[in-house]
Parts: sequence; C-alpha cells; structure tokens
Amino acid sequence: MERLLIKDVLSEENIGKSLNVCGWVRTKRESKGFAFLVVSDGSTQDTLQLLINNETPAFQELYRCNTGSAIQATGLLRESPAKGQKFEMEVSEIIIFGEAEPETYPLQKKGHTLEFLREISHLRPRTNTFGAVFRLRNILASSVHEFFQSRGFLWIHTPIITASDCEGAGDLFTVTSLDLHNPPKNDGGDIDFSQDFFGRRAYLTVSGQLEAEFLAMSLGKVYTFGPTFRAENSNTTRHLSEFWMIEPEMAFADLRDDMKLSEDFFRFLCRKVTEKGEKELAFLESQYKRISCEDLARLAETSFAHISYTEAIKELKAAKESFEFPVSWGADLQSEHERYLTDKVIKGPLIVTDYPKEIKAFYMRLNPDGETVAAMDVLVPKVGEIIGGSQREERLDVLEKRMKQTGIPRENLQWYLDLRRFGSAPHAGFGLGFERLVQYVTGMLNIRDVIPCPRAPRTIGF
Ligand code: 4AD
Ligand code: MG
Repeated sequence: MERLLIKDVLSEENIGKSLNVCGWVRTKRESKGFAFLVVSDGSTQDTLQLLINNETPAFQELYRCNTGSAIQATGLLRESPAKGQKFEMEVSEIIIFGEAEPETYPLQKKGHTLEFLREISHLRPRTNTFGAVFRLRNILASSVHEFFQSRGFLWIHTPIITASDCEGAGDLFTVTSLDLHNPPKNDGGDIDFSQDFFGRRAYLTVSGQLEAEFLAMSLGKVYTFGPTFRAENSNTTRHLSEFWMIEPEMAFADLRDDMKLSEDFFRFLCRKVTEKGEKELAFLESQYKRISCEDLARLAETSFAHISYTEAIKELKAAKESFEFPVSWGADLQSEHERYLTDKVIKGPLIVTDYPKEIKAFYMRLNPDGETVAAMDVLVPKVGEIIGGSQREERLDVLEKRMKQTGIPRENLQWYLDLRRFGSAPHAGFGLGFERLVQYVTGMLNIRDVIPCPRAPRTIGF
C-alpha cells in the first residue's frame, strides 16, 4: 500500500479508508484495552493519533514504540471521539523501522530551550518549533521562484568559488588546495598562490552580484538564489558566516525600479506565507507571541516608507533617546539606529536611500551631488536591514575612479569594466538575506534557529 503523508491523510474524504503512514513517535499512552501513539512525519504541523486495540498483534509490538522511534502503521482512518484531534487511525499493523532508547533519546516531552536544541541540530527538526520554521522556509523559498518566474526573471547560477571580492570588504574565506603545513612562498615571503589550484588566490563568494550583472546585461532580468559566505567575526543574532541570498538584477532599470521591485517582492512573500503557512504561523505565534498571520497579512498590504539617509540622520539627531553609537552624517547606521527608525518613527518597513559613498560598495552609482550613491537598504521592524541594493555605476570613467579611490584592484575585474565598454546601460539590483527574511516571518530571535546547520565563528558542529 502506498505511503501517504500525514498532511494528506487528515481529511474527511479519507474516513473509513485503509491507509498507510510512516513517522516518528512523539508520545505513547496506554489506557484500558487500548494504547495511543501520536506520530508526526514532518509534512505538517499536525500529528496523527494512532489507536491500538490490545487484541491486535500490533499491541504486542508497543513496548518497542518509544518516543523517537520510526514506525509504519496501517489502519482505518476515523473521526476521533475524543477532544484534541479531529481524526485518528485504528491500527491493524505496525512495522518498527528503528527504535529509540527512552533513556538516551534527547528529545523528551518537556519543552527544551532553543539553546539546548541548537546543540542537537540533527534532531531539532523533529520538534514542533523547528518543523514549523523549516516548512515556512520552504514556502518562502518556493515563493521566491514563483515571484520572479511570474515576472520574466531568469534564474541564473553564479559561482560559489570566485576570484573577486564583490563587496570589497575583505571578509573572504580563502579556498585553497595548498599544503597548509608547507605552502610555497614567493621572494617576499608571502604565500605564492600562483602555485595554488586555480593559479591564483580563490575565495568563497560573498555575493553573486558581479556575475549577475553580466547576465542581466545580456539576458535582461535575472536572479540568483544561492549560498554566500562571509568571514566577518560577527557574533550576533543577525549574522551567519554562510547564508542564502536572493539577488535580482535588471538591465534598463534605475533606483526607483529597484525600490519598487524590493517592495513588491517582500509584500508578495508576506502574502504567500499567510496563504500557505497558516498552521505554522499560528503555532509559532502561540508559542512565542512575536508575529502573527494577521501581522503578515497587514504587511502584505502596507506600502514601504521612503527616506533618504540624510533625512534619517536628521530624525536620529532629533530623537529623545540616546544611542550607544554616535549619530553623524557619514557614519553607517547601526542596528539600534535602524530599529529606532522602523519601530519608533515609521512603525513599519522603510527604505533608506542615497547613502554617503564612503560607507557603500564601489559599484554603486554616484549621485549628481558627488557625495552620495544610488543605494537603498530595506529595513524592517525588529530585524533591521533585510535587503541591500543599488543602481550600478554604468559609466566607465566614474567606475574606474571609484575603484581607484576604494582600492579595488582592476586587474581581476577587467570583465566587469568591459560591461561598461560594450553596450553599457543603467541597471540595478539588490540582495535579500534569506535567513533574515525567515527570521522576520517566523519571529525567531536568533538567526541560527532558521537554518538547519548554522555556520558562525567557532560554530560548525553539524
Ligand atoms: O548588503 P549586502 O552586503 O549586499 C550585497 O551583498 C549586494 N551585493 C547585494 C546586491 O545588490 N546584489 O547583503 C545583502 C543582504 C543584507 O541586506 C542582509 O539581509 C543579508 O544579505 N546579509 C546577511 N545575512 C546573514 N548573515 C550575514 N552575515 C549577512 N550579511 C548580509
Ligand atoms: Mg548591506
């Protein structure tokens, strides 16, 4: 008999049918003449209650069905007479694939802290919380593709190993096959990467943007959705060393188009998650009380406020509260500043534009004032920056000058400059940090709780 997912089993039309499910036992309880097993299979927030009569042979197997064991059950679905669940299955046969020792199985019925669950990342997806988070993550990931595919964007695949530092911030992991105990050295005593695997120094990518730009400058509208890596030593609740980023890039587009796309995108994702993730959102709200399905539905209908960096600085200077980091024109916005703007001033999502050129990457288009660039950051309440983007500098001479000023070596980026030599055009794009989005939607406070295997400084256990 074909195995059904619990999400497909729990429906009126299956009542009276003989079905087959597989899953992991959550709880076992015995009462007069019966035993109850509650199982989940990860397909839905709901569990399935199995009812085992002491006259069936399956009852003899029960002693092996402890919490955590993996089983298959065959039986008839019926309406449950008791409160707590709508359906239950009257089991005729049980197969036990793998037992779990009750004394050592780490997931017990009592609630565990998220910190403890992080130490058992290989088992935490079996909990209600992480089941909900990872199902919501899946809804968001598939909605990302739905959004771009419906708008004519091509999904392109930019490299993970690269020779360039897109953000110019130097937060790169080196990829090498040199013997670390005895690397070849040049005359100056430095490691000679010309003898390395690629014949020069290579890194894990921090962003697929530069490659997405050349694809946009031939295919028109493209997007990436892949892992990116940053060797920043940031031990915060919003930073990972390996995170997924979605980077759309559009030819013949300016900063306004970019802002519009980011808003449409974010609102689309909020709407999709309320349509497809209702149960998960309801569960997380009941547990953590941070964000609700209604909040997200409202966000899906809310336009973003727009404010320039210069205006943002004025707002911050006028604030009654004092900040840990000083506010001055030219300094980057810290998360406390971002949160003040979103949570106190705007009370919703906000796009900050036109940042000083000194605090932004070399590829951003210089504004006519010569001081600011056509940058935009989307900030959302509680999480802060969720999207960073810009119109790109399409003028060869201006770009060359900016690269010189910011110390970006030209040799490695001739191909990037070529895009400005041959058929250059205005173009723009942005990057959405996927885990920041999942964090926002789930209300999880720590970004390490929205990705199966978080990578952060000194954290690579799984
Ligand atoms: O602002 P960032 O650095 O922008 C870029 O990488 C551009 N190349 C994007 C583009 O225009 N195509 O990063 C974009 C987003 C941030 O807004 C944030 O949401 C997320 O990526 N992000 C991180 N998420 C988790 N951990 C980190 N260490 C992150 N660094 C950036
Ligand atoms: Mg940024």
